[in-house]
Amino acid sequence: MGGFIAKYAVVGLGKIGTAIAKALLKMGVQSNEIAGSVKSERGLRRIQGELPGISVILSNRELVKDAEVVILAVKPRQVFDVIRDIGMLLDSSKLLISVVAGLSTRVLGRFTRARVIRAMPNISILEGSGVTAVSRGPRATDLDVDFTCSLFNTVGKCYLVDEEYMNAITALSGSGPAYIAMIAEALWEAGILVGLPSDLAWSLSIDVIESGAKLLNSRKPWEIVSDVATPGGVTISGIKYAEERGLKGLLMGIVESAYKRSIEVQRIIEDAIENNLHDSVSGK
Ligand SMILES: NC(=O)c1ccc[n+]([C@@H]2O[C@H](COP(=O)([O-])OP(=O)(O)OC[C@H]3O[C@@H](n4cnc5c(N)ncnc54)[C@H](OP(=O)(O)O)[C@@H]3O)[C@@H](O)[C@H]2O)c1
Repeated sequence: MGGFIAKYAVVGLGKIGTAIAKALLKMGVQSNEIAGSVKSERGLRRIQGELPGISVILSNRELVKDAEVVILAVKPRQVFDVIRDIGMLLDSSKLLISVVAGLSTRVLGRFTRARVIRAMPNISILEGSGVTAVSRGPRATDLDVDFTCSLFNTVGKCYLVDEEYMNAITALSGSGPAYIAMIAEALWEAGILVGLPSDLAWSLSIDVIESGAKLLNSRKPWEIVSDVATPGGVTISGIKYAEERGLKGLLMGIVESAYKRSIEVQRIIEDAIENNLHDSVSGK
């Protein structure tokens, strides 16, 4: 492994890490400037062939040693081991972009000396239609913020936000694709219920979500309702049922519940890191 050099290091080439490696390529970074890591031999086999020209290794120390930009994309429960292993190597010459849910820039800034940015993408970055929120952490420069937003802009939209909103954003746009998927599934089943063939019901369900979302770029929800609903007609009958059963309240409750869990997860992860690592990693 000696002499391994990559400017961009992705720690954790799972779903999000792989999408970010692809975003780097799309930005114009050469594949030989990117490398990544996984935890297991199984992970190595899985990733082989998916990222041609990009080195994938098991040693995070080797990976980040000479990197200028390190992207942290392991699961929250895996982050403790990673920080213990490489925290000391992440000095101020490196930009650290973390996409780990529930890990604040305050804690990352305490256990590394890197220039820290926190990002909350959603899984739609896989398809180039992602929504990513980015917050500036300790020591991060304007250039670091610009770089991070350019990266996520290549695979969707990027919002620069105050970090205090990150748990709410995790619950809304971070988890959001899962809620939309559930709504799509419900519409599909509803189509079958009212007599449509399964394939047609599926296509129409996806199409109506896409077409409805496009309309919302130029019109408010109540304008759309007014345009679609004929007095005494079909649509208003459906809307009455949705209101009686509390559809909006249900959706609000879903996001609120995810928000509360996001706060809880942040507390658990950060307590674990703070209690176990103390100042030993940063050498402060
Ligand atoms: N999925 C989402 O929608 C989403 C959205 C926003 C943010 N996030 C955040 O993104 C992060 C990654 O999520 P994901 O869904 O991409 O998870 P994932 O698919 O499970 O990927 C995690 C990757 O990390 C690797 N890994 C684990 N421990 C490691 C270690 N010590 N060193 C190097 N690699 C290690 C795993 O390797 P193996 O393949 O060998 O197991 C796996 O490839 C999470 O922190 C999550 O909070 C996810």
